[in-house]
Amino acid sequence: MQSVRRWSAAAVAATLCGWLSTFAPAVAEDGRRAGFVGTAVVAAPEKAMPDVPAARPVTRTDCAKAKCVALTFDDGPMSSTAELLDVLAAHQARATFFLVGRNVAARPDLVRRELAAGHELGNHSYTHADLGRSSAAKVREELERTQEAIEQAAGVTPTLMRPPYGSTDKNLALTAKRMGMAQILWSVDPLDWNARDRATVERRIVKGVRPGRILLMHDIHASTVAAVPAILRRLAAQGYVFVTVSELFGGSLTPGKKYVQR
Ligand code: NI
Repeated sequence: MQSVRRWSAAAVAATLCGWLSTFAPAVAEDGRRAGFVGTAVVAAPEKAMPDVPAARPVTRTDCAKAKCVALTFDDGPMSSTAELLDVLAAHQARATFFLVGRNVAARPDLVRRELAAGHELGNHSYTHADLGRSSAAKVREELERTQEAIEQAAGVTPTLMRPPYGSTDKNLALTAKRMGMAQILWSVDPLDWNARDRATVERRIVKGVRPGRILLMHDIHASTVAAVPAILRRLAAQGYVFVTVSELFGGSLTPGKKYVQR
């Protein structure tokens, strides 16, 4: 669960109320936090949804009962992320984005859109560094700079991180623990960065999926984004519900610990 600092109630309520489509673009255009929190954005959803508690984590699906799967997208945001967000919104699917800090700094508008749409944000280092083979100082710097970039862009502090290349060690585990982040690996990898082919990515994901699994993809590749509509359609037809990583685990993730599936 990401600790939402200022506008969690607005984001939650907006998502639930379904007037996000009018809400998100205004957020993206207006970079300032004050503008986001002010005026009708907060007031309207509270009226419409009086039973939505303030500052509560978004947990709408009980994955102990439902057939959950967590879509995760790494290495963004990039321009292709915008199209993916449209696709996810059209299918009312939520996902988790593991963000590269320098890309966050370049496209904070997309990070705000991700958050406003109810997706979860995670830390994927600042320069996509091999953290399992880096010094303690380097690991700390990579993770801290990325936390700061995400805080600046979207006003939330991630409680999840994914080591680039899945490369981790004891030092990273300790640093992640100290920084309050669980390590999220994956259980289905279609090697989309290598295939760069819509049909291949779709086939591998559909073949590998099981309830409780974490699917790894990259929103920086157009071929992956192109595969997502069919993936969502086919998995939804099998009864899958698309949840964030924190939601998949019912919000009970331990900082520093590694997770590959529920
Ligand atoms: Ni990566």
